[in-house]
Amino acid sequence: MRNILITGGAGFIGSHVVRLFVKRYPEYRIVNLDKLTYAGNLANLADVEDCPNYTFVRADICDFEAVCDIFRRYDIDGVIHLAAESHVDRSIKDPFTFARTNVLGTLSLLQAARTCWQESGYEGKRFHHVSTDEVYGALGFGDALFNETTRYEPHSPYSASKASSDHFVRAFHDTYGLPVVVTNCSNNYGPCQFPEKLIPLFINNIRLGRPLPVYGRGENVRDWLYVEDHAQAIDAVFHRGRTGETYNIGGFCELSNIELVKMLVKTVDRLVGNPEGRSESLIRFVADRAGHDLRYAIDASKIRDELGWQPSLGFSEGLERTVRWYLDNEEWTERVTSGEYERYYKQMYGQR
Ligand code: NAD
Ligand code: TYD
Repeated sequence: MRNILITGGAGFIGSHVVRLFVKRYPEYRIVNLDKLTYAGNLANLADVEDCPNYTFVRADICDFEAVCDIFRRYDIDGVIHLAAESHVDRSIKDPFTFARTNVLGTLSLLQAARTCWQESGYEGKRFHHVSTDEVYGALGFGDALFNETTRYEPHSPYSASKASSDHFVRAFHDTYGLPVVVTNCSNNYGPCQFPEKLIPLFINNIRLGRPLPVYGRGENVRDWLYVEDHAQAIDAVFHRGRTGETYNIGGFCELSNIELVKMLVKTVDRLVGNPEGRSESLIRFVADRAGHDLRYAIDASKIRDELGWQPSLGFSEGLERTVRWYLDNEEWTERVTSGEYERYYKQMYGQR
């Protein structure tokens, strides 16, 4: 039996990782540690909450004593760390929260792992840190893709905080021998993503006939990966990745924002039965994001060649699945945006 601590399991990517592990590994105990911020939502995990190998614990990763207590109580021998503040626009408004959770929270987990695992030795232990391609900064249009040796050059407070957390993770490996692996992934999309990120925000706005605010001229490029493919990649690296290594994860799917938004408009219009192209009139070019990175693009050949992972879903199929999920789950979007879930959790678990 392995006792795996997944942090941030109530969030977007975390909930897909928790579901995959709970279902695929009935012999493991999966402990989901989440603070349930505005972005964390246990409704994302309704289908696994009664599984005997699943446990939820509400805690803040910055609370070192609480984290140590969880390590000891559940005899944790593996960590998959996803808990974070994750939205660039929020980081521009409130960088302190990002430094606290992403940097100090990661440090608190690392220190807990080191302290608790030292007693029994590092044999059979693993700390998997889930990070982003944004730590590498921005590419120009003609530049080669990011690979695992690309220099860190973060620009936003979000990416600076994630870069700092990546450095702490490697420092714990180099200094204390902590058995770590790091993954840096490109933009994810799919069900249960909080509707402040581009794809779910725009699906909701198209559905409601609201404007679609495209930053700048919509020329910025992102590499998109369906979230379940990311969860599969995490599984591969957690189990088979080489200790101390970094693996980049990407969709081999670069799109400019305006290309993507046009595809999205077409897909939503088709699925809700609007005349073709009707919602294109909702597109508005608005003031650019401060420090907006021009292009992210990942070379994911290391994980493909070493571990045999590659994306299973093409973008148009993934996008259609995603749009269908949001159209079928309007209530989910209404509840997360109105704060209804947050109020409920506050009542149930007390003030954060
Ligand atoms: P998310 O914002 O949807 O979820 C974050 C989760 O962390 C939430 O459940 C939240 O309640 C929890 N959390 C936040 N602060 C916490 C704290 N102090 N203590 C405990 N829990 C806390 O994020 P996401 O998009 O699912 O991203 C998950 C991870 O993957 C992050 O580390 C992010 O940097 C990384 N990542 C995301 C993307 C992407 O496209 N979304 C791409 C690459 C990497
Ligand atoms: P986002 O989903 O916030 O992810 P990230 O900033 O981590 O890449 O944004 C994806 C791209 O879409 C990014 O280039 C910013 C752009 N964008 C808009 O043009 N309008 C919006 O309202 C949002 C939220 C993002």
